[in-house]
This record gives sequence, C-alpha cells and structure tokens, in this order.
Amino acid sequence: MNELRDFFQHQFGAAPTHFVQAPGRVELLGNHTDYNQGLVMALAVDKHITLAVAPRNDGVVEIRDMAFPEVARFRVDQIEKDPAIPWANYPKGLLLQLQQRGVKFGGFNAAIRSTIPLGAGLSSSAAFLVSTALAVRKLYPYSLTDAGAGAPPPPEANSALPPLDYMQKMLLAKACQAAENQFVGVNCGLLDHISSLFGQAWQVILIDCLHLTVNWSPLHGDIAVVVCHSGVKHALVGGEYNDRRAHCESAAKTLGVPSLRFATPEMLEANQAKLAPRDLGCARHIVGENQRVTEGSQLLAADKLVEFGRLLLVSHESSRHNFLNSCPELDLLVELAKTHAGCLGARLTGGGFGGATLNLVRRDQAEDFRAKMAAGYEQKTGRKLQSWICQVVNGAA
Ligand code: GLA
Repeated sequence: MNELRDFFQHQFGAAPTHFVQAPGRVELLGNHTDYNQGLVMALAVDKHITLAVAPRNDGVVEIRDMAFPEVARFRVDQIEKDPAIPWANYPKGLLLQLQQRGVKFGGFNAAIRSTIPLGAGLSSSAAFLVSTALAVRKLYPYSLTDAGAGAPPPPEANSALPPLDYMQKMLLAKACQAAENQFVGVNCGLLDHISSLFGQAWQVILIDCLHLTVNWSPLHGDIAVVVCHSGVKHALVGGEYNDRRAHCESAAKTLGVPSLRFATPEMLEANQAKLAPRDLGCARHIVGENQRVTEGSQLLAADKLVEFGRLLLVSHESSRHNFLNSCPELDLLVELAKTHAGCLGARLTGGGFGGATLNLVRRDQAEDFRAKMAAGYEQKTGRKLQSWICQVVNGAA
C-alpha cells in the first residue's frame, strides 16, 4: 500500500483519498460453463489489483500503472479506444457502462498496482474492472438497480459507504461483464467478475449462471491451492474464446434448448448425427462440466477430496479432447502433477489456450510439489515455471 501511495503522490503531486482492492480468481471446476448458463466453482485468491484514487474537478480521468510507462488520459464525456493503451479499455468500458446506467461521476486520478500475474488466467482483467467500479463508487457514491442508477447509498455513522450487498455485487458484476463484452470485445461470462466480488476466505464460490445465485462451501485447510503458470499465451485468445462460445450456442440451437444448461448426455447421444462435429465436442464438454460441478460440490461437502481431485483430471481430459482449449504445455503440467503423490487433482483453469493449471495438493507436500513441477517442466520445455500457493481470500472492497 505504501509503495502505491508514494507512486501516486509522486505522479500526481498529492496524496490519494481512497484505496480499493479486488482479487483475481482461480476457476476450480466448471470450464466455459458460465456463458452457457451453467455451474461453476471458483476461488478468490490472494493476488490483487489495488487502485489509489483521488477526485479531479476538470472532468478528466488520468490513470497510471506502476508496471507500464503509458499514461491513459481522457475526458469522462469523451471515452474512446486508444490502440496504443489497450489496458485502458477495461476502465474505459466500465465507465461507459456506468454512464449508460445513468450513474453520474466526474474525473479522477488513479494509480494501479497489480500482483496478479499477466496471462496466467487469474483474471486480472476482472479485478481491474471491479476495482474501477468500486473506486468510482467511493469517489462519486452510486447504487444500481435493474433499471439503472438508484439513489446513492446513505453513508454510515462514520461517513463510510455501506458495504456492497448481494444485489449491488451482482449488478456490478453484470456491468463489468458488459464492459468486457461490448468494449473490450471478449464474449466472456460472469465467472470472473462474480468471483472477484463474492469471494470469501477459505470458501469455494458456487455460481449458478442460470439463476444467478451464489453459494459458498468450505475448502478444507489441509489442502493447498497451487497454480502453475505455463508461461504460454497463445495468440488469438479472444478469437479462440469467442469461437468456442459460438460452437456452444450453435449446439444449443440445433438441440432446440435455450442454452447448454438444458442439454443432457442422452440428448447429445440421440442428436449426434445432427450436430456439427465441433458443436458436439463443445457440447460434450459443457454438459460434462455441469455434471462434474454438481457431483463435485457433493464430494466437497462430504470431505471426499480424493474423489474430488479425480474430477479435476477428467475435466482436463475433456478440455483436451472435447473442447480443444488445452495446449501441449498445459497437458505436460497436468501429466507432471499426476506423478506427484501429494497431488489430488490438476486441470487447466480459466479460458485455456495457455495460462495456468490449478492443482490441489496436500499442504505438507506443496513446496515439494512446486519444486518437482519446476524441475520437470524446465527439463522438458526449457522454460522456467512460475507457481504460487494461493490463499483463498475475501472479495473486493
Ligand atoms: C475466462 C472467461 C470466463 C470463463 C472462463 C472459462 O476466464 O473470462 O468468463 O468463461 O474463461 O470458464
């Protein structure tokens, strides 16, 4: 925090008035199910984007990131893309969404510090969107309703803003998703934004993307969540992602259901001939993932972590063969993980096509697991492996 405060002071010549912070997330199970109205399990993790902000009275927004030299500077009444500063599309898209909902705000200065590794699939983009939404709320208090902006929240006795309630979090998550869909150009679902907002320490977040409900279930303390970053970021990620979504939607259309949430394995088998091969592969993945999340939440509740871990491996196989969103480096990481006695399960996490794997590892063997994974990965690929033991944390505030 001090480093960010000093950076802000140095860049803007005055101290910030507020700080906000939003975590990244790890998708535990339920891959690409979110935009298919499906089921997902996620964890908010101790990698954060922190914003230091202060209001300005000239209608200008100026954003400086501690890690990048470029400065994003624009008027709140003139928000446009600047291809030279692609990271600024996130706050810009979010500000436009707030404006479209009738939220009124002026300019501000913002400094960013991120501990979320880029390209690892831990959703720094969602954390950036969520922290921008919270920063504006601190500076220019607003609330949202289904119909647009509501009355500003009444300050509490100590003049602090009340914490976000369930409804506000859900409406903010939707605004963040809309920013990414409409301004950034990735047709992502709600998983990342919901996870960043609704996380709870040492709880698994269970998201039902049809009914838009969130529940929590404890994650047991003797298990470590280890994220291994392949260091690979495939080109055309947005294109691949949108392509998979199109196949899912096409499959649902052929099956005559509103979304793949309503498809069953029997339905897929009965309609094999009608479904285009890639539509069928994608549909098999989604239908299987929904089943695995249902089964997995029962296993977690019953403390059956070994069986839960096996579902992660099945999920990865399905990514690899049905959804085609893995890559050789991710497959290698999962193969290496399987050979470690302390590992209960491993799979790619998030969009895929590079990024990271999630590993559930017995806590007392987690450091040994990291060391063996690093050695094995470097030996086979020549690449250094970055890995983290993640703590499961509360959502944005
Ligand atoms: C990315 C997207 C999410 C979700 C996952 C895959 O993280 O942003 O909406 O679709 O991929 O589950």
